[in-house]
Amino acid sequence: MSTPTTLTLLRPDDWHLHVRDGAALSAVVPHTARQFGRAVIMPNLRPPVTTAAQAMAYRQRILDAVPAELLAQGRRFEPLMTLYLTDNLAPDEIRRAKEAGVVAVKLYPSGATTNSEAGVTALRKTYATLEAIQREGLRLLVHGEVTDAAVDVFDREAVFIETQLEPLRRDFPELKIVFEHITTREAAQYVADAGPWTAATITAHHLLYNRNALFKGGIRPHYYCLPVLKREVHRQALVAAAISGSPKFFLGTDSAPHAAQLKEHASGCAGCYTALTAVELYAEAFDEAGALDRLEGFASLHGPAFYDLPVNADRITLRKESWTVPQDLPFGEARLTPLRAGESLAWRLVEDSAGGV
Ligand code: NCD
Ligand code: ZN
Repeated sequence: MSTPTTLTLLRPDDWHLHVRDGAALSAVVPHTARQFGRAVIMPNLRPPVTTAAQAMAYRQRILDAVPAELLAQGRRFEPLMTLYLTDNLAPDEIRRAKEAGVVAVKLYPSGATTNSEAGVTALRKTYATLEAIQREGLRLLVHGEVTDAAVDVFDREAVFIETQLEPLRRDFPELKIVFEHITTREAAQYVADAGPWTAATITAHHLLYNRNALFKGGIRPHYYCLPVLKREVHRQALVAAAISGSPKFFLGTDSAPHAAQLKEHASGCAGCYTALTAVELYAEAFDEAGALDRLEGFASLHGPAFYDLPVNADRITLRKESWTVPQDLPFGEARLTPLRAGESLAWRLVEDSAGGV
């Protein structure tokens, strides 16, 4: 079967996104707003977003960064806000968050990734708050890696499933859990076998690359993210899950901007910047798997269903047309290197002449 040269989808959403704050926020929000209708905004600022009031103020700063041209075309972009779970987040704050429209709470094991110092040191300490999250019907978004230095970095997700996720699921049977940015066959299998309250996001880079990408011709810091890229067998399992049609798997870019000089560093930051080309990267992964017909479910339908939200009413169109990703982008005082900088992409998001809904 020959590949179609254009592809029209209901407008997708990004169910896992980092946009930072200040000048960095202003630099990256336009990229996401151009592609997506909504995005779940990660709360790992410094200091983290831990109150409903902070989440709402952050939401407004994001809305203020949506380009006027998009709004003039009738487009809207909606940030969906999250709180950062700490050992001390009060159950009462969950009620306030629900009332304010916050959609989820993010669990970072302390020390697991960028700005996770304030994260949870032991799940037991958060049980009263997890009860409130379950009761209020918010989602719990989980960075699923153990932080024990004795565990090999490539095994931290699989060990997390056994030692943390299984007990959590047993103790909170109706908690809506999203296992974020899954990277292994074990995680894909766990989610597929779990009940209806467990879902997962998958990034474009984990669908497209295995860990060889980190070392191709020298160390490649722009391919370094957490959880780190894994072996090819895991990449294949993620592709199989993404194209399976199962509503448990949906799009979450985990686009995580860092100044280029902080990634090209003796101790480089974790995070791949994919927001500029997110839908194109996913289209490439689904195209390579011969499953473009499954992209709309993954990108535009499964996420809203898990979050009990309507699907977007407008559409986007992609064209099969090679183009070159810019070498770098402005990022406040610094520069930002997008994934695939200077390389070509096979698909291109067509400018949205039809505009809004
Ligand atoms: C994220 C970041 O930079 O905030 N980095 C990453 O490698 N994905 C944090 C995260 O989601 O782990
Ligand atoms: Zn993330």
